[in-house]
Amino acid sequence: MAQLWGGRFKNGTDQNAYDFNASITFDRRMYREDIQGSIAHATMLGEAGIISDDDAHAIVEGLKGILEDVESGKLEITSKYEDIHSFVEAVLTERIGDAGKRLHTGRSRNDQVALDMKLYTRREIKSVDEKLARLQKALLTIIENNLDTFMPGFTHLQKAQPVTLAHYMGAYMEMFIRDRARLADIIKRMNSCPLGSGALAGTTYPLNRKRTAELLEFDLGPTRNSMDSVSDRDYLIEFLDALAIIMMHLSRFSEEIIIWNSNEYRFVEIDDAYSTGSSIMPQKKNPDIAELVRGKTGRVYGALISLLTTMKGIPLAYDKDMQEDKEVAYDAMDTVSGCIELFTGMIETIRFRKDVMEKSAKNGFTNATDAADYLVKKGVPFRDAHGIIGRLVLKCLDEGKALDDLSLDEWKSESEVFEDDIYDAISLQTCVEKRLTDGAPGHAAMQKNVDYYKSYLKVND
Ligand code: ARG
Repeated sequence: MAQLWGGRFKNGTDQNAYDFNASITFDRRMYREDIQGSIAHATMLGEAGIISDDDAHAIVEGLKGILEDVESGKLEITSKYEDIHSFVEAVLTERIGDAGKRLHTGRSRNDQVALDMKLYTRREIKSVDEKLARLQKALLTIIENNLDTFMPGFTHLQKAQPVTLAHYMGAYMEMFIRDRARLADIIKRMNSCPLGSGALAGTTYPLNRKRTAELLEFDLGPTRNSMDSVSDRDYLIEFLDALAIIMMHLSRFSEEIIIWNSNEYRFVEIDDAYSTGSSIMPQKKNPDIAELVRGKTGRVYGALISLLTTMKGIPLAYDKDMQEDKEVAYDAMDTVSGCIELFTGMIETIRFRKDVMEKSAKNGFTNATDAADYLVKKGVPFRDAHGIIGRLVLKCLDEGKALDDLSLDEWKSESEVFEDDIYDAISLQTCVEKRLTDGAPGHAAMQKNVDYYKSYLKVND
């Protein structure tokens, strides 16, 4: 047991209680952030004359050495210490002597852990954002190559109206654009530095909090209220919320791919590299990666609910409950990063069966709305047109054919308004290409979006 406290205790900690309380097994992953924060703190303490320049220099150099040794594997973070903060301070003191004991002047583990977690989260947000950008680039390639690949669009998972593969993928592009905007928004709001808040009530040392905020690149400067600073995990909840939404998008996308990859649809074939087989059924090639992404979504939702629940009953300021923020958050971060990477690989290598998609778009009456619109353009009120086409669809269903197969006489049996141009008006080509309102699948409308996505991806790179 190696602890930073003990002076006021008569007896040692029960071993089980010690283990229960310790966080080193998981907070060790914040060693970089802990050292980075301590370097900033020591630098500021030295500049403000709170510790001597020599001590500040020895501390900073000592911390840099610890970082180097941990990174190279020379120094192991063992569970002999209670947490990552104790580990760094203890090793520092072992290495540089008394100066190491001055590092914690005007600081508490409460503002220290608040800082570490913020720094760690900020780094993770940036990394998730970069991964999403790579996924968007893969999507953009698919979009650009499929502006004229027809496929059915669905509502209620029933064929509805024809769209293009580019348009379909564009819908997911939009979701990921919103996801990245959410991430950027969180960074903006969380970018204030809690260091210097002490345990809860600041400190009597003349700390220069602006300076540490600047050294640690917090654009908003120091936090405004020391009690809030040590007890705030809003930014982490917001990040978990953003991650949950990202997973919801990936899960919906996965679900589509699983359905499209089925024998019944055959719209796509997932590459062998992202599929698995069955131990008993030799013919099987299963979409496990997509299923796992869908499955892991629950776990990320769980992290969000877990932290919200942990935080909801905590009186100000810091309470140890808050240590429970870490394992769930780390797990969610790892899960989402892994899922985005795997998903990106899967869609980069997936094969779209354009012929199957187009054939599917041609049946299932996806042009029924266009047939009604044809009548409307010739002066028939829409509600009447809807009824006329509905009856013709029923006739086609009875006879096992498509609207395109009806003879002109058959069309005319429901309305004299029909003429020879009905065939062109309801062709797949026309149905898609004439949809040119902003946001619609028509080539020219989609091309505008492609131009936007291109400049967006460059701007945000
Ligand atoms: N391991 C603790 C946590 O993650 C660090 C803060 C400890 N502070 C304290 N007063 N015991 O929250």
